Amino acid sequence: MLSRTAGLEIALPGGDVTEGVVRVGDTVRRTMGRSAPAVHALLRHLESVGFEGAPRVLGVDEQGREMLSYLPGETAVRPLPAYAVRDDVLGELAGLVRRFHDAVGTFRAPVGAVWVGGSSDDEGPELVGHCDITPENVIFRDGRPWGLIDFDMARPTTRLFDIATTVRHWAPIADPMDRDPRQRCLDVGGRLRLFCDAYGLGAKERRRLLDVSRLRFGRSYAAMKARADSEGGGWARMWEDGAGDRIRRAAAWLDANWDELAFCLR
Ligand SMILES: Nc1ncnc2c1ncn2[C@@H]1O[C@H](COP(=O)(O)OP(=O)(O)O)[C@@H](O)[C@H]1O
Ligand SMILES: [Mg+2]
Repeated sequence: MLSRTAGLEIALPGGDVTEGVVRVGDTVRRTMGRSAPAVHALLRHLESVGFEGAPRVLGVDEQGREMLSYLPGETAVRPLPAYAVRDDVLGELAGLVRRFHDAVGTFRAPVGAVWVGGSSDDEGPELVGHCDITPENVIFRDGRPWGLIDFDMARPTTRLFDIATTVRHWAPIADPMDRDPRQRCLDVGGRLRLFCDAYGLGAKERRRLLDVSRLRFGRSYAAMKARADSEGGGWARMWEDGAGDRIRRAAAWLDANWDELAFCLR
């Protein structure tokens, strides 16, 4: 086994925000933000309840970086591979999100836990959601969703808000001009229904999914702009690269297709 404290550093592609994520042997090293203690408590909880699809916390290395277990597999970087837009894969992803929510449901955050800011639902929080389940943050094995990584955006929220974030990227709820080529002709309404069915989402929450998505667009626009202004770095790069315009176009596309999508979710 390779040493956890020394060895060859291999750059890991696919991230937008954290600078210099590297693999060293069977570990990943990442710069820690202010929410790291809370995220580590969350990851330790997932380990204690036997949820396998998340990295384990292994400590802090000599450079002050967090050490997490490396999850073998691949993330679906853009342009997306064919498996990442398949309906059966979306159903399996919904199952993974459901298992994660059930596992995290018994987590009690440490007193004074600091999470990153960010938008949330109007309903009171019911669990700590991942809040960033993008194709780049899902580990696939043999084309099947296996685990979740990059819990930097985790925060108290509702199941439905975490689902809205997930389907924004995976259904996807996006203007066709901003979608990955393989996502352009997908039946988004059918895929929303499929995700909700596979997750086992109740009728009441299902009817709120589009409202929460609309709410989320408005709030993420404001939250991303604030982070780009205050933190710069990867957030500013994403903003300059048109992230705000993409959110606005997605919100307009949602409004324009609202009735058809709502019909699919009845
Ligand atoms: N624990 C892990 N196991 C396997 N791959 C990982 C792990 N953590 C990060 N990676 C890889 O590194 C990339 C960037 O890491 P990530 O934690 O998502 O950083 P960012 O905050 O920049 O998005 C991921 O998309 C993935 O390919
Ligand atoms: Mg990431």
